[in-house]
Amino acid sequence: MIAANRDILAGARVLDIASHDGRWSFAALQAGAARVTGIEARKELVKGAEDNFAHYDIDPTKYQFICADVFDALTTEDLDVDVVMCLGFLYHTLRYNELFAHIRALRPRHLIIDTNVMPGQEEPVIRLVRDKTAKQQHAVADAYSHNGRALVGKPSTPAVQHMLETYDFEVEDIYDWQSLIAQRPSVTGVADYSKEKRVTVRSKLQVA
Ligand SMILES: C[S@@+](CC[C@H](N)C(=O)[O-])C[C@H]1O[C@@H](n2cnc3c(N)ncnc32)[C@H](O)[C@@H]1O
Repeated sequence: MIAANRDILAGARVLDIASHDGRWSFAALQAGAARVTGIEARKELVKGAEDNFAHYDIDPTKYQFICADVFDALTTEDLDVDVVMCLGFLYHTLRYNELFAHIRALRPRHLIIDTNVMPGQEEPVIRLVRDKTAKQQHAVADAYSHNGRALVGKPSTPAVQHMLETYDFEVEDIYDWQSLIAQRPSVTGVADYSKEKRVTVRSKLQVA
């Protein structure tokens, strides 16, 4: 997700959507990003990210973590970005129109999406799933969640492509996880990628 995108991350202002404990923001800076902004709704994770960055003595002018619901922050914050990373979030929402419209309005050069997908599905479809809002990895409670659950969707890979193309993002690459994993058979924790249940898609905004 990071090494393969070093060319677009170098010198870039990066927005990390659902930044969790800052792991991918940190990696983006290590890859040469000029500055990262993370948006994460869970307070304890934002605190974790700030502690992590302080621990590694990262220049405070190079990062910012906004503790907010991503849909609120994308509406209210004034963000200047070159690359948007939307990693591990697309299957924790159903609000695709809003998400993509907001991202497009930022006019980033590139958008990188890493997401769980429905394997083997050739149609652009979404499977409805319920997230438990109490779980740290899941959707946060919001005005639309109910009884501790949020309706979210798991897209097929063609659905991810469809969403991107609808908002003028041209797919540049769907990362070849299978080849990477085949070269490193001892690596664990990547089963979703090897079973094609998860993809990483790099796209570029086509500006008229
Ligand atoms: C599966 S984790 C992915 C974290 C990280 N981006 C990664 O790839 O490792 C999903 C993250 O989305 C955050 N999240 C869920 N709903 C959110 C929302 N509406 N606004 C902001 N963050 C949200 C969760 O708190 C969690 O940190």
